[in-house]
Amino acid sequence: IKKIAVLTSGGDAPGMNAAIRAVVRKGIYHGLEVLGVKKGYEGLIHGEFITMNLGAVADIIHRGGTMLMTARSPEMMTPEGQKNAAEQLRYRDIDALIIIGGDGSFLGAQTLSAQGIPIVGIPGTIDNDISGTDLTIGFDTAVNNVVQAVSKIRDTATSHDRTFLVEVMGRDCGNIALQSGVACGAESIIVPEIMPDMEDIMAKLARGHQRGKNHSIIIVAEGAASAFKLGEELRQGTGFETRVTILGHIQRGGSPSAMDVVLASQMGGKAVEILCAGETDRMTAYVNQEIVSLPLEIAYGERRPLNRALYDLANQLAI
Ligand code: F6P
Repeated sequence: IKKIAVLTSGGDAPGMNAAIRAVVRKGIYHGLEVLGVKKGYEGLIHGEFITMNLGAVADIIHRGGTMLMTARSPEMMTPEGQKNAAEQLRYRDIDALIIIGGDGSFLGAQTLSAQGIPIVGIPGTIDNDISGTDLTIGFDTAVNNVVQAVSKIRDTATSHDRTFLVEVMGRDCGNIALQSGVACGAESIIVPEIMPDMEDIMAKLARGHQRGKNHSIIIVAEGAASAFKLGEELRQGTGFETRVTILGHIQRGGSPSAMDVVLASQMGGKAVEILCAGETDRMTAYVNQEIVSLPLEIAYGERRPLNRALYDLANQLAI
């Protein structure tokens, strides 16, 4: 191969820039020409390409968001859009495409592969919901963002004797809630994978009250329930004052953690190596502390179950 392109797709995730940088620099190191595609599949379909040289990715390693910009592309879900996307690549003699994004973005990639375009996916989403990889780019930063926000909320919770419900992202996956809940010592963690036991949560609040602890943090994954609804239920059930904070896109912003930058750099480098080895339909993955190449279809396989042992431990620690 001589010429490759890279795009970011779906929700932005901190560390995507570091992955772009690694793809570009590793590609140039191996003598490839590298193009960037602006605005994900939307830009691909409409031919928004830019030349990526060494300087194009200078000073981005530590920045959140994605310098290539991103989009959720309804057009890429149509056969017409998919055909146009492949044509744009062929027209420019681009030999392969690297897609940085979540599982929806990988589905788009598969339609290009079906048209003969070699592709490699790099898992980039704060949700950490992609099968086959222990970590996705952006998850660690998002969890740290939640922990920082909760430590601020805790000041008000303790000063006012309040029960705070903090709703976090994750779509239909509870990984952000679980990891951040453990990291900030939440009293309860509510995830979509496990039915919440409201009686138990209320009993825990009451036990805390009995020993003079009148503030609590409950982390609610957005895919599990509405934090407002649960807050009202808890208020009525316990009589405690409840407040709700929805963290929203704060979780996705800001500089990536060192861990995300290293992960993204390794995955970007690996993606180029995979293409140079003549392979396609692969994804980079982090498995047992190593960056490996896996068949892309693993991403659509059965979802990795929530870490039940960690969930149980969190409950035991918040006794
Ligand atoms: O997939 C990342 C994510 O932040 C999810 O956690 C969330 O449900 C969704 O994207 C929000 O999407 P948008 O930014 O398009 O509103």
